[in-house]
Amino acid sequence: MHVTSKPAILYFGTPVVVVSTINEDGSANLAPMSSVFWLGWRCVLGLDASSKTTQNLLRTGECVLNLPSEENVAAVDRLAMTTGSNPVPQLKAARGYRFEPGKFGLSGFSAAPSETVAPPRVLECPVQLEATLAATHGLAEDHGVLRGLVKIFEVRIQRVHVDEALLVPGQPNRIDPGRWRPLIMSFQKFYGLKAEELHGSRLSSVPEEAYRSPESIGAK
Ligand SMILES: Cc1cc2nc3c(=O)[nH]c(=O)nc-3n(C[C@H](O)[C@H](O)[C@H](O)COP(=O)(O)O)c2cc1C
Repeated sequence: MHVTSKPAILYFGTPVVVVSTINEDGSANLAPMSSVFWLGWRCVLGLDASSKTTQNLLRTGECVLNLPSEENVAAVDRLAMTTGSNPVPQLKAARGYRFEPGKFGLSGFSAAPSETVAPPRVLECPVQLEATLAATHGLAEDHGVLRGLVKIFEVRIQRVHVDEALLVPGQPNRIDPGRWRPLIMSFQKFYGLKAEELHGSRLSSVPEEAYRSPESIGAK
């Protein structure tokens, strides 16, 4: 039996990404987010327009998308309710957020240099995607009150770093989903995925190489 419902949020479960960007003074900012999806070697992110990450991304055009696993959950949680913006934007202040200039120190994550962009990678995250900004869009541009509050970013992945423990043995370009334990945010809470595959997948009869984007091998 279904009933109609008006949940305040519709966060049905998406992977957490810790985004690193560079502040005006050259220091690094870190922010957890999860409104995200990938198509080819592009990623689409939804970010509050008032966030420091949004401002840094618009100014510098660069970020690293660090993908935490279930093991990184405590460090990710320490970043929650903080912002690199000073003063704290009004809406965040009302929700109890505080200004935090040292997100690496606060989280316990370590910074590792990136190879193609200025923002550092998060060493402890098993996947780190160096990326540059390709396009910026608005969200809810058709609504008088919501217009301008959220930015949609398309970023282009420039380099992929993966913990070798996630790879299919002997196949350096294939991640084994059975070894990857993404951290999932569902209705503001943290979850993991069940370890075993639930059911056979007809889709997975298509070889992964059939989806390869020419960008992934440097083709224009
Ligand atoms: C698990 C988790 C998921 C989040 N997902 C998003 C998101 O998808 N988009 C967003 O704008 N903020 C999201 N937030 C809130 C941001 O972390 C928050 O806006 C933060 O202040 C951003 O930091 P910054 O201002 O230093 O960039 C999320 C927070 C947590 C803890």
